[in-house]
Amino acid sequence: MKKYILGIESSCDDTAVAVVTEAGEVKSSVIASQTDLHAQFGGVFPEFAGRAHVAAILPTIERAMQEAGITPADLEAIGVTRGPGLIGSLLVGLSTASGLGLGWGVPVIGVNHLRGHLRSADLEETRVSYPAIILLVSGGHTFLAHMDSPAEIQLLGSTRDDSVGEAYDKVGRMLDLGYPGGPVVDRTAKLGQANIPFPRPMLHKGLEFSFSGLKSAVARYLDATENPVVEDVAASFVEAAMDILLTKCRKALQQYPVRSLVVVGGVAASPQLRAQAGELCDEMGVTLCLPPLRWSTDNAAMIALATWDYLHLDKAPEPLPALQLAIGDF
Ligand code: KG4
Ligand code: ZN
Repeated sequence: MKKYILGIESSCDDTAVAVVTEAGEVKSSVIASQTDLHAQFGGVFPEFAGRAHVAAILPTIERAMQEAGITPADLEAIGVTRGPGLIGSLLVGLSTASGLGLGWGVPVIGVNHLRGHLRSADLEETRVSYPAIILLVSGGHTFLAHMDSPAEIQLLGSTRDDSVGEAYDKVGRMLDLGYPGGPVVDRTAKLGQANIPFPRPMLHKGLEFSFSGLKSAVARYLDATENPVVEDVAASFVEAAMDILLTKCRKALQQYPVRSLVVVGGVAASPQLRAQAGELCDEMGVTLCLPPLRWSTDNAAMIALATWDYLHLDKAPEPLPALQLAIGDF
């Protein structure tokens, strides 16, 4: 019986391939990371990313199939990230998936990367109970959505400028902490005092976000301060970022009666965010649903799980129309 999806994710700087069952069981997940390659530039260098994907993609697919112990005949479909992302990186995944699909006689389905993140909390076990409020916090996006089911998604508010992950990465670079900024800014913040009053842009304006003002405030503070205490700057930045994210989540939970709050995307790996979201959910009487750490940052298992949703849609999938308008798609 065909009961597996091969997921392929190459939207940014990781070549990721996974084999996942309909219930979200991950039979294999292999990630060829390019972090070391891009660290020297302090961010992702798109041309090098595309070339590294070309080198990594076939061996990564082969390994994922081997680790899962399956052959192409066992595949229901191949699900591949179709966007948003870096065009050169995406094309490597899309063209490889198309070629394999043709050769193997397996359908190929293009999957919205964000829909993958939205489903990541149900990998390995079903955690999400609907209706739910979803906070998606990644390097490319920050938004709140309401979900009645995996197929019924309403965008509530997204960032007007930078994503919170981008702000983390820029602050990491300003403080010379290296790339990617998220994990190291988090670790550094734990060693400092949040004693610098950075702004919380748009804190009380609906469910939209803005992070560019916070990022600029950190830059201005560093320009104006002799011998800044790096740990205190990181702690003050993280406190402001958390304040913004949690205030908006609280507002959304007050406005919409839901059963769970789901926090997904790379920044959902932040221990501070995980802990503070837990406190908020206790207070509001809703369940917090978090993907395990390895499914918070980019991976192909989430793309494979989302592919099953596409198979169940009656019509050609037009994923997240509201999000497409808000954030674009490929
Ligand atoms: O979801 P993701 O892996 O890729 C995108 O789709 O963008 O998210 C990457 C982002 C980066 O900005 C990275 O700095 C951030 O997630 N990140 C974190 C942590 N781990 C990764 N941010 C805060 N704390 C972390 N522990
Ligand atoms: Zn992502």
